[in-house]
Amino acid sequence: MKILNLAHRGFSGKYPENTKRAFMAAIQETPCHGFESDVHLSSDGEPVIIHDDVLDRTTNATGPVGKRSFRELRELDCGSWKGSEFAGEQIMHLDELLALVIEHNLFLNLEIKNNEVFYQGIEKTVINRIKACKAEERVLLSSFNHPSMLICKEIEPKIKTGLLYGQPMIAADEYARSYGMDAIHPGINCLEYSPELVGKCHEKGLQVNTWTVNTEENIRFCIQLGVDSIISNYPDKVALILGAPPL
Ligand code: G3P
Ligand code: MG
Repeated sequence: MKILNLAHRGFSGKYPENTKRAFMAAIQETPCHGFESDVHLSSDGEPVIIHDDVLDRTTNATGPVGKRSFRELRELDCGSWKGSEFAGEQIMHLDELLALVIEHNLFLNLEIKNNEVFYQGIEKTVINRIKACKAEERVLLSSFNHPSMLICKEIEPKIKTGLLYGQPMIAADEYARSYGMDAIHPGINCLEYSPELVGKCHEKGLQVNTWTVNTEENIRFCIQLGVDSIISNYPDKVALILGAPPL
């Protein structure tokens, strides 16, 4: 069974996360199959690619992402924090990321970041963009906000959904299946606790996509378990261990 090598926030081990630079580097420097990325809404309802709820860590501004318009967000620098050579990177619109994914025939695990901040209508907004780009087949939505994944399923059952969690839970396979999900997205620590979960999920037709798998030991563990996707900050390392043909 093929294991997908997904670059977590792009090639974020080496480049500023969730930027065009990091996504292009993943494409140009590694034989990855796609990306994991995070989406929020600007104050004027545009879906934007950034990890944190606030701008402080990865941009030259402070305060909540959702309090600024797309135009205001676009003026920020989201590369310099990682190194002066990355100055001038701009926050991407979801449409731009989808265009990149389509152009390079990749897969996208898009994480809706609505577990701590409430973004009115984010599910509908994101799904509308995916449909407008005709990317339904190559996107899997995930979130730590499980009710939000139910909303997505109701809006567009064709788009795959996965339940994210970072603490071990009981019967994740039964839980995910009973709500019509397509995948579980456990943190790698959760799989260490219950490795039998992979087989149980596969019996039920559920994918297991795990994060954030950065060490050689953990990458080998995932391969041995037969997970469906390995989400890593180092897609180069994953490719090497998977034995993927070089570019
Ligand atoms: O989607 C996997 C992973 O990205 C979830 O955690 O905080 O890195 O977005 P986080
Ligand atoms: Mg994420």
